[in-house]
Amino acid sequence: METYLWITSVWGVYLALAVFIIGMGWRIYEWATTPKSAVRLGMFPKPATKTGRFFKMLKDTFIAPHSAKIEPAMWVFAFAFHVAALGAFVGHGRLIAEFPILPELLGHDGMNAFAAMSGSIAGVLMLVGVLFWIGRRTFGPYKSLSVPEDYLLLFLLFGVIVMGDHMRFVYGDIIHADTYRAWFQSLLTFKPMFPEKLLSGNVGWSLGTHMLFTDLFLIYFPFSKLVHTIGSFSSNRVRSE
Ligand code: HEM
Repeated sequence: METYLWITSVWGVYLALAVFIIGMGWRIYEWATTPKSAVRLGMFPKPATKTGRFFKMLKDTFIAPHSAKIEPAMWVFAFAFHVAALGAFVGHGRLIAEFPILPELLGHDGMNAFAAMSGSIAGVLMLVGVLFWIGRRTFGPYKSLSVPEDYLLLFLLFGVIVMGDHMRFVYGDIIHADTYRAWFQSLLTFKPMFPEKLLSGNVGWSLGTHMLFTDLFLIYFPFSKLVHTIGSFSSNRVRSE
């Protein structure tokens, strides 16, 4: 298992982060240097003031009212997924450093209990969202519009989330953020190591597989349609001009 962990959770992470950072840098450079379209791509209806257009841009990016009108069920699942993903993203911050203030207020055990509850809710909501998307592309009318890339991305996301949930629900009572943090900080300081707790028992398989899917997901991200996470800002900005 230790070799599996070194491949997926040390070298794989370095490779994935390098590809992700260089790939996204290249994407942003491409967007920044593409000549402006001669055709106006403005909003409709267009708010009269710059402030109005700015807030419409934020609303279009974060609430996506047009999607809600076209496919309400999809909008509900997608919105829940994105809020949960944001929560999980913030929660993963504990792998870098413990949150300020909260642990003092809740105490060590209280903080872990809070993380367990919020992580479980986020993990389940994300899983439900991805299962909905897989179902929508597999059974509904969208099947004929789906290409292999759609399934590949959903499969990778599914793998990341199921294995994250596996750690959360199966090992959540025995292994807490401080153990994972020792490993993750060792990566950040380029002195990789695994605490004994991650090497004994089976949690290493779970972490290794969470990281395997995460590595593949990060490597693929800059080349996939998921760059919309960042691209939606630039396209909505162009529309707001
Ligand atoms: C470098 C990247 C990542 C690392 C180091 C990482 C590490 C971890 C760890 C250690 C846990 C277990 C937390 C615990 O039980 O205390 C976890 C849980 C989880 N991870 Fe990740 N993960 C990464 C990326 C991702 C990504 C990209 C996603 C989703 C798109 C994701 C989704 C989840 C979910 C849903 C859980 C369970 C809920 C939770 O504890 O927040 N992870 N991750």
